Amino acid sequence: MTDAQQAQDKPTQPAEFDAGRVPKIAYNPVLVGQPALVTGANSGIGEAVALGLAQAGADVAVNYVTHPETAEEVAHKIEGFGRKAIVLKADVSKEDEVDAMYAAAIKEFGTLHISVSNAGLQQDSPLTSMTLQQWNTVIGVNLTGQFLCQRAAAREFLRRGVVKGVSLAAGKMICMSSVHQQIPWAGHVNYASSKGGILMMMQSMAQELAPHFVRVNAIGPGAIRTPINKPAWSTPDAYADLMTLVPYKRIGEPDDIAQAAVWLASDSADYVTGVTLFVDGGMTLYPGFATGG
Ligand SMILES: NC(=O)c1ccc[n+]([C@@H]2O[C@H](COP(=O)([O-])OP(=O)(O)OC[C@H]3O[C@@H](n4cnc5c(N)ncnc54)[C@H](O)[C@@H]3O)[C@@H](O)[C@H]2O)c1
Repeated sequence: MTDAQQAQDKPTQPAEFDAGRVPKIAYNPVLVGQPALVTGANSGIGEAVALGLAQAGADVAVNYVTHPETAEEVAHKIEGFGRKAIVLKADVSKEDEVDAMYAAAIKEFGTLHISVSNAGLQQDSPLTSMTLQQWNTVIGVNLTGQFLCQRAAAREFLRRGVVKGVSLAAGKMICMSSVHQQIPWAGHVNYASSKGGILMMMQSMAQELAPHFVRVNAIGPGAIRTPINKPAWSTPDAYADLMTLVPYKRIGEPDDIAQAAVWLASDSADYVTGVTLFVDGGMTLYPGFATGG
């Protein structure tokens, strides 16, 4: 790789970005004895959530589909926090691979208490040129993948039930949604549809499972600094454009989402089920209306 390419790959810190506004909050050990599985845990938000859960005391199954070396790095970091980690390859859109992954995690840890269906991707295109394959791939990973994972988790949570002294709930599911479960997104019809689908999937599962003491919630991230949206934050111009959509005037960091996931998974959120917690610096507040309308 040339120096020029390397410089291009390096995130440019826009002048207006103030690192002092990024929180650095330690985790409390609220998830001890509650093994977790996180999909897409070798990058971005999934990695941060896996590390956050581990710092809060959970052993963690780290799912990946490509780049095993980065999954191993996440596992080593988890072990560095004194927790157990297992690395599991599975394409979340494949039923047999998902079922085998959950079975392996349950075998390794004895059970699971927390399931975070985070894996997701974008394949953007204007509507008229969007192929059926682009539609099916995004729905297959982002929506069907979350269904397959949380169905496998539900089976284990219902089999085992509440374990007194560990958690008040029989299990906690967290679906990684997006502000685009609510905000339409031209040029991203497949992605926005997958996230809109997660809303109803999550709420219907929450309604069905609440009497079994299983809590099901979603997180709706706004713009978070990860590889999935690098073009939107990696140059000063792009960052300035992005900030027109973010009333709180900073990009979200993966740890902002991890803090929310740990809270939702903990008994502090015991009376919370069927909600989407938007972690978006106000992106869903229709910032265009602050001065217009
Ligand atoms: N970054 C943001 O601004 C943002 C905003 C809203 C929602 N989200 C959501 O957060 C989640 C994580 O995204 P991210 O920003 O960390 O992006 P990312 O690209 O860094 O991570 C996505 C992860 O999903 C994995 N993945 C993709 N297809 C998979 C498959 N078939 N099976 C298993 N794993 C697969 C990738 O390998 C990667 O580990 C996604 O669901 C995304 O839609 C992100």
